[in-house]
Amino acid sequence: MAKYIVGITGASGSVYGVRVVEELLKLENEVYLVLTDNGKDVLEYELDMDFNKWIEHLRKQRGKLILCNRNDMFSSIASGSFKTDGMVIVPCSMGTLSKLSNGITDNLLIRAADVMIKEKRNLVLVPRETPLNSIHLKNMLFLSNLNVTILPPMPAFYHRPKTLDEMVNSTVGRILRSLHIENQLYHEWNGKNQ
Ligand SMILES: Cc1cc2nc3c(=O)[nH]c(=O)nc-3n(C[C@H](O)[C@H](O)[C@H](O)COP(=O)(O)O)c2cc1C
Repeated sequence: MAKYIVGITGASGSVYGVRVVEELLKLENEVYLVLTDNGKDVLEYELDMDFNKWIEHLRKQRGKLILCNRNDMFSSIASGSFKTDGMVIVPCSMGTLSKLSNGITDNLLIRAADVMIKEKRNLVLVPRETPLNSIHLKNMLFLSNLNVTILPPMPAFYHRPKTLDEMVNSTVGRILRSLHIENQLYHEWNGKNQ
């Protein structure tokens, strides 16, 4: 069983975080889930769902879910000696992006991401904001130069998506691929006539 950390913050696009967690569990991974306070509030608001019921549902899935408290710096994921296969922050708010790029590890989610960078492990950010100002862009460039993958949820249209689900899935598929997980959720471009 591979181990992944998923962080969900208070940017719009909670659906991406929810779908990533569900796919990772479906593929029988161990998922360490950590949300900021705003991450939980926005998720409940945008998806009109009860957080506790969602967690109950996830616990019945094939993989293993470990829900981490954002204030618990004694958690295993706060330490570099605990090895994981990758981490994704999805969606990633500009606030969390900024704290991470400045080394402000004042919650478990950011501390876990900071650990991924210091241990040179795979970290994927799915930042969501528009338009982007120079502070956002500077922070993304800084983290990209540290080998952090910056993967904004920008839908492609060349596979002609027909539903919201298809559009969400194509981003979820790209996120999984960035975590080195092969999947069929997104469409690879193989040339116009192939
Ligand atoms: C409904 C809603 C949508 C939001 N969407 C975004 C967004 O897309 N991007 C962003 O950076 N912040 C967004 N915010 C603001 C963040 O939640 C806020 O900056 C918060 O302090 C982020 O904290 P966190 O990173 O600890 O979750 C949104 C807030 C609300 C209530």
